[in-house]
This record gives sequence, C-alpha cells and structure tokens, in this order.
Amino acid sequence: MTRWDKRADMVVHEAEPFNAESNPVVLAESYLTEVDRFYSRNHGPIPNISAQGWTLTVDGLVGVPLTLTLAELQSGFARHEVTATLQCAGNRRADLIAVKPIPGEDPWGPAAISTATWTGVRLADVLAAADLDPRATDIAFDAPDVSQLADPPQHYGSSISAAKAGADEVLLVWEMDGVALPRLHGGPVRVVVPGYIGARSVKWINRITAQDKPSDNHFQATAYRLLPAEADPDSAGPGVGLPLSVLSINSAILQPADHTTVAAGPQTVAGYAFSGGGRTIARVEVSIDRGEHWVQADLGEQVNPWAWVLWHAMLDLPAGPVTVAARAFDSSAGTQPESPAQLWNPKGYMNNAWPYVRLTAEPR
Ligand code: MTE
Repeated sequence: MTRWDKRADMVVHEAEPFNAESNPVVLAESYLTEVDRFYSRNHGPIPNISAQGWTLTVDGLVGVPLTLTLAELQSGFARHEVTATLQCAGNRRADLIAVKPIPGEDPWGPAAISTATWTGVRLADVLAAADLDPRATDIAFDAPDVSQLADPPQHYGSSISAAKAGADEVLLVWEMDGVALPRLHGGPVRVVVPGYIGARSVKWINRITAQDKPSDNHFQATAYRLLPAEADPDSAGPGVGLPLSVLSINSAILQPADHTTVAAGPQTVAGYAFSGGGRTIARVEVSIDRGEHWVQADLGEQVNPWAWVLWHAMLDLPAGPVTVAARAFDSSAGTQPESPAQLWNPKGYMNNAWPYVRLTAEPR
C-alpha cells in the first residue's frame, strides 16, 4: 500500500497534493473500481473534517437558508444510490503531451477514471427543502481545501446548472461502495455529478449557494476551461475558453499494456468506454491497420447511463510490430476523433482521441 491506503502499483503523479491513477492494466478487471485502486485528483492538502464537526450551509437564492449536520442530512431526506463513473477532464492527457508539451500539468494516462456505487441524498431534495428560487440558474459548491494553484490561493469550488442540480442522479454522498466515504475522496460528504467532468464533483462540500450566474471560483472561472490551442494559459483570465461540464465519448485500451511483447495469433484486447450526459455506449471497435478495417468488440453490461462499459475483442495479430487502435460510439452516434493532434489544448483537457497500444507480436 502507498499513502492514503492505495495499492503499491498506483501511478503516483504527485505525492503532495496527492494525485494518482490506477495501474491501467488492472483497472478494468472489475466493473466497480476497488476503493484502493480508485484514482484521486487533488489541488491542495486533504482536509481532515470529522463527521460530527461537519455542517452544510445552503444559501443564496433560496427561501429558507439551511445549515445541516450529517445526522440531519441522513435522517431528513430519502436515501438514494447511483453507480457512476468519475472521469477527470485531464484523463489521457499524456497522449496530448506526446503531441506538444503542456507545462505544469500531470501526464495522466488512461486511468484517471473509476467507477463506484455512491450512497446519499438527492441534491434536488435538499434544494427543495431550502425552497429554491426559480431565478437561480446555477448552483455553486464550496469546499475548505485551499489551493496554491489559484492566485491568490483560494479554496476549491465550482458550479453546475440548476437544471443538472435538479436531476435525480446528482447526489450528496457519504458512502462509496458501502463504506464511509474515505477522507481522500471527500469524506464526510461530497457531491457526485454523474456524466460531468470530475472537477464538478466537489469533495468535502460545506456550502451550496443558489445564484444567477456560474461560480467565480478559480476552478470554474479560470481552470477547467477549454482554451483555443494558441491561447497562453498564464495570461488567460477568468471567463476565457469554454467551461467544461458534460464528458465526451471516450475509450481506452488497457490490456495488453502499451509497448509490450505478446504472442502472435489470437490475442484478447480489453478496455473501457464511457460517455457523459446520460448517453449510453452503443459500439466499440478495434483495428490493427490504423482504421482501414474494424473488429466489433463484445460489450459488457452498462448498469445505467452514468457508468462505463468494459469491453473486450479477439484479434488475430500478425508477427512483428502492430499498433492496435480503438474507437467507441455512443447512443447519439457520437464517436472519437482519430488523432490527439486535432484536440491539443494548452491545459490538456478532454482528450478523447482513438487510444492506441503499440505491441510487438512474436511468432509462437
Ligand atoms: N473537490 C475538492 N474540494 N478539491 C479538489 O481538489 N478535485 C476535483 C474533484 N473535486 C477536487 C474536488 C477533481 S479535478 C476531480 S477529477 C475529482 O474531485 C476527483 O475525485 P477523487 O479524488 O475522489 O477521485
């Protein structure tokens, strides 16, 4: 085990703040990611908040401002669970960095994504109890962890539209896979916003504010925005670029590992596919000739539109060097672009280009 009770084979990009992803080869061995393999993305020191000391303030454009303890949250609202995949906007950034360097950002591989069953209450029910004002267009979240990445340093926050906040799948959760939400993953309570970039699933949430504009927090107004390729991220101030929310269709090949030697002939390849916005995975295909021909993959179960699909396909590999590519399609017929060069952006977000693994197939 490494720090934070994570497996020793995690790929740790930074020890402080802790940023780590699962070993990609083992990520797709179970539909629900074991908690000790679940990726973690942090922008500052992990706060230590006791369940007894935690409170949640609900204010802004509401008729009845609330302050709730954990016991009040747990006893005052109907309990719900959702199995949902969290994916960081920086997932698969390493493939963008291979196109052109992205200074100051971690080279996440394909495992800044994980799936868990989350238990809590609907954000919509809490907002209804606070008598949400219909003039509220955005619901802002605040947390106590302070990030030095903002100038001046700022606590973490973000926002989602009031429409998404009212959706059944958006929960305030205190359990992950049936255990108390670990401190690293936002315990005692975080919000989980399925289908959106992970940045909106604010950990250690202590304040929810209904307002008529998006949050002006650094991590909503300045970071987690898609800048034009030629923009200078150091001088791009608040409001530049596209705010990121719904995740695009994406997939990865996890087995065999990239740059490995395998036996020529029949070879299973396996990975995941996921799309945001409640779209389901319709098809995954793999190719060994850079997309001239495609083999249909077998799709595992997708338990609901908010969780990924694990897939596998059987290929017949010729001896020699071979590059395997994949592409997924979702229920809106959306698919992945061929090359990360088409997607490069100065902060390295939202890479959903075809994944590739480069293999050497040895004669049997
Ligand atoms: N919430 C707080 N308070 N602080 C953070 O640094 N990181 C966000 C989000 N919520 C973050 C946060 C990002 S970018 C991601 S991808 C997810 O948390 C990661 O959640 P995890 O560490 O539980 O995997």
